[in-house]
Amino acid sequence: MSDASRLKAILGSFFHTPAYGDFELLEHTLIELDDAGVIERIIRPDDTDYAERVAAARTAGEREPGSFAELASDTFILPGFVDLHVHAPQWPQAGVALDEPLNVWLDQRTFPLEARFADPEFAYTVGYDLARTFLSRGTTTTLYFASAHLDGSYAVSRACAAAGQRAIVGKVVMDDPASNHDFYRDATPEQALVDTEEFLARVEALDAQGRAADPRFAGAYAAVTPRFIPSCTDEALAGLGQIAAAHDAYIQSHCNEGQWEHGVAIERFGKTDAEALASFGLLGPKSIMAHCTFMNDDDTALFAETGTVVAHCPISNAYFANSACPVRRMHEAGVRIGMGTDISGGFSPSMYDNIRQAVMASCMLEEGVDALVPQERRGAGRPSRISAPEALYLATKGGAEGLGLATGSFEVGRAFDAQVIGTRQPYTDLTGFGVFDEPGDKLARILYLATPDNIRQVWCQGKLVIER
Ligand code: GUN
Ligand code: FE
Repeated sequence: MSDASRLKAILGSFFHTPAYGDFELLEHTLIELDDAGVIERIIRPDDTDYAERVAAARTAGEREPGSFAELASDTFILPGFVDLHVHAPQWPQAGVALDEPLNVWLDQRTFPLEARFADPEFAYTVGYDLARTFLSRGTTTTLYFASAHLDGSYAVSRACAAAGQRAIVGKVVMDDPASNHDFYRDATPEQALVDTEEFLARVEALDAQGRAADPRFAGAYAAVTPRFIPSCTDEALAGLGQIAAAHDAYIQSHCNEGQWEHGVAIERFGKTDAEALASFGLLGPKSIMAHCTFMNDDDTALFAETGTVVAHCPISNAYFANSACPVRRMHEAGVRIGMGTDISGGFSPSMYDNIRQAVMASCMLEEGVDALVPQERRGAGRPSRISAPEALYLATKGGAEGLGLATGSFEVGRAFDAQVIGTRQPYTDLTGFGVFDEPGDKLARILYLATPDNIRQVWCQGKLVIER
């Protein structure tokens, strides 16, 4: 990628959530980037050299087109989203068969589809389309489950790198012959571990290659990925814990997703899913666990103690989790939380859709849903709702902090990952017609009503990746 598409400075109004619970609007602010696409300086209108720096940025922009962006007053810039949970091979079935219970949906629908990633070319095609779709929805970083295939999973990593997205990808391990189809599983526990090591090595080489070609390459990362307890043998789970520790690698899995999964762990180990994962060395500050809806207070304390991250997937939870995720309770207990679309347990690749569902699900958890149950017993019995800015934090800085990656907000030292929201698009006017002009109202209208058409430009680490 040439320097022509590399942003050096941008002048506009920025919404972000530097801390959970609060949002900030940086109006008419100039953000300067270094050569690696990282935020170097944030210059506010009342800074003494503001006029001088803006003039310099404009002049530089004339010399080097693409290096400076000056946004109209009816546009706002939000951080690029961080999606903490996605299944790349499930993209072709997004929206399909969501009325089955989880185990049936996996067995009859999902595993036959994922088996198609035996063909790396198919895997690349699907992975590339999905990564470009995410970028077009404002998502600049994604943590992916690929498939059980080594080559198919590596194809997903290559596709994301080519698409311009920062991607952490895992080769899925599902080795237990008792719980997996012969047509789609690791041949043996040993092979699952060998393939995981080989996958980590290949992605490391891919990342190095990218850096050599462009030292500012946005990054390819790998994750150790036991699918979930029910699909893995003890041998594979223990081996993966050791591999992750030896490589200081990310770990991702599903934990306590619903009634069935919860029951499987109790029956097999006499422990909860969370306790069982911990016993195999699979919880820790680089572990990202999807769903976590069936968390008792001990599980929650275990997550907080180990620094394990929850990937909250609110749309998927409505179909498969048999419950609503207690986000507020876990946050108050000190658990790190981000957000995921869970394509295709969740049908939508949009984090906007998931932000909306996260707020709505939290209200329903607090209030309860069955009017025939008396009000005092209907809800969760404790404050459970979260606000839209809290949900935005989960979708941006919460996910970034969960991955330990410096992005997700507009602060010095963080990668400039950003999406420009045009509030005055035909049929999607988000301006509030001059009536609702408070910053909080403006942000709420963006979060609740933005469509893909409102997302006009997207940068990943200063590199323009989408322009509508
Ligand atoms: N648990 C194990 N695999 C999956 C999956 O693909 N989707 C969801 N939602 N839960 C899972
Ligand atoms: Fe999932």
